[in-house]
Amino acid sequence: MTLMQKIRRAFQPETDSRPGDSKEKRKADGTPGKKLSWREKLQQRRMRARRRLLTVENLMRRVDPAALAEVQTLSERENMDDVFWTKYLDVDKWLTLNIRYAKELGLLDKPPRSVLDVGCGGGFFLMVCRALGARVLGLDLDKDLVLNEMIRLFRLERVTWRVRAFVKLPDFRRKFDLITAFMICFNFPPRHPYWGARQWDFFLNDMTDRMLPAGRLLLSLNKQPDGLEYDDALKAYFVSREGIVTGKRIVFTKEGLERTRDTLTRKELPVPVAAVG
Ligand SMILES: C[S@@+](CC[C@H](N)C(=O)[O-])C[C@H]1O[C@@H](n2cnc3c(N)ncnc32)[C@H](O)[C@@H]1O
Repeated sequence: MTLMQKIRRAFQPETDSRPGDSKEKRKADGTPGKKLSWREKLQQRRMRARRRLLTVENLMRRVDPAALAEVQTLSERENMDDVFWTKYLDVDKWLTLNIRYAKELGLLDKPPRSVLDVGCGGGFFLMVCRALGARVLGLDLDKDLVLNEMIRLFRLERVTWRVRAFVKLPDFRRKFDLITAFMICFNFPPRHPYWGARQWDFFLNDMTDRMLPAGRLLLSLNKQPDGLEYDDALKAYFVSREGIVTGKRIVFTKEGLERTRDTLTRKELPVPVAAVG
């Protein structure tokens, strides 16, 4: 099974039941394809419709172009104290990238219903999930004018919050079937050191409690000053929580996180089930 298949499977175990039975393989074998049930046909039709829907043009349809152009002038400002993330003014680029993330994660096959994006930035991933029909919520700091303006422009719901080690997130009064955190690190080196297994353990357990039964959590970590997203010890910890580790991305399931909740307090770490990359 390829890496991407593993990730997709983690996101939708019940829909990926025929690994290797691809159209290409059947063609090569000369074996007839399984006749699709009406349910499968419907699912395919819906997926194709979602694929057509997910274009930058469609996602931007309800965004006022004049207001966007106004926000984009922030990159020309002289006083840049409250304007840091000007790279996110390139809406085309970031929406295109986040559409790709959604496809890679298999969200077109089985769209999430309720999404929390921690460190949501300009809200591009939330825009994509909302277009797929999810109720979406972002969480981020409110210090940067670019991010504040993008969130306002996209009419996204966002909670202002700084993620800190050993502090739970606020009560959102709802649970999520997908929690994401793209391109993040929650420490600010050198003032706040690298998050190790204990800090991540607290965070993962908090996220577990906020997930619906089939919930998934995706982390995509930024590089630290040492050039690494995580060291070997931290990778071993993620694997011990049944995380599928693929480079900077780590995918967890609620079931896996619950099964391994006491990993750090047990004497022996469980045998890794999925260590890749
Ligand atoms: C590199 S940006 C990524 C933004 C977005 N996730 C994306 O992929 O486009 C990192 C984001 O994390 C936020 N962030 C950094 N530290 C944070 C913290 N401790 N709590 C909440 N958000 C934080 C930043 O404000 C910023 O929006």
